[in-house]
Amino acid sequence: MAFPIVRPRRLRRTETIRRLVRETDLRPAQLVYPMFVRTGRGLREEIPSMPGNYHLSPELLVDEVRPLAEAGLAAVILFGVPGEDEKDARAAAAYDDDGVVQQAVARLKDALPDLVVITDVCLCAYTDHGHCGVVEDGRILNDATLELLARMAVSHARAGADLVAPSDMMDGRVGAIRQALDGEGFTDVGIMAYSAKYASAFYGPFRDAAHSAPGFGDRRSYQMDPANIREALRELELDLGEGADIPMIKPALPYLDVIRAAREAFDVPIAAYHVSGEYAMIQAAAARGWLDEPAAALEALLGIRRAGADLILTYFVPKVLQWLG
Ligand code: PBG
Repeated sequence: MAFPIVRPRRLRRTETIRRLVRETDLRPAQLVYPMFVRTGRGLREEIPSMPGNYHLSPELLVDEVRPLAEAGLAAVILFGVPGEDEKDARAAAAYDDDGVVQQAVARLKDALPDLVVITDVCLCAYTDHGHCGVVEDGRILNDATLELLARMAVSHARAGADLVAPSDMMDGRVGAIRQALDGEGFTDVGIMAYSAKYASAFYGPFRDAAHSAPGFGDRRSYQMDPANIREALRELELDLGEGADIPMIKPALPYLDVIRAAREAFDVPIAAYHVSGEYAMIQAAAARGWLDEPAAALEALLGIRRAGADLILTYFVPKVLQWLG
């Protein structure tokens, strides 16, 4: 059957009809808000390359999150931003039970017990060289890093984190973290693994925000080559085998094919990270009047859902809560 019997426009005639046949949705419950928690007190500083996002000290983080939770915020992922004087070669501040993320998690879970609190587990913001692992003779050591990541994850769990999210891309870290968590009795703490994390140019604003740019070289010896998709599926398979609960693909929009392939290959929840550069692009264009910000942002996020992501990490969360509210 074809035109003139078939007319797809019939189902686009009114918004109520369009809504009846809409295939994909975007709901606040599917979103995770990335937030930056910085050592100190009384700090609330806007991040220049990420307008609308802040460095917050732990006590002000709670004040920031409370109204968002009332507006429907379901989950946050926390990134620690320690002071320069807290950084060292082995990232000791990352697994200090009194560290900045640990303090923030405890305060958040105390004030808002239903909020899902996820913590980023990676050494780069805590090392003086800015790499995600232990460095020796200019090389990033895989196996020596695992123990530190596991300590960091356990410390976050002890503070009350619901899920930990390793973003370092060391081989075997999901298994090491799972084993350490279980060994300390944290069998209910989940792992959202940055499984297919690409060596992307779109992390630029984040590295300014987290003060985590590598001091030498780049991250291509551990993050994935943007040319590869088979390897991404292999990474997901390995992480799931090691006990990951939610594998993540990152960034999102340049990797929609990877999200789709992962959706088809695995029957687990899939997360996608709409990263800082993806946020900054829309912000920058909207600031010049070149894009309609809500329309462009909602379209981008819906596209990530349509590709197959169940949950999305995005800096647009506070705005989406307003736009959809
Ligand atoms: C840390 C980490 C990064 C991001 C999340 N965790 C930066 C990096 O790998 O350099 C990027 C997030 C974003 O750009 O929004 N390993």
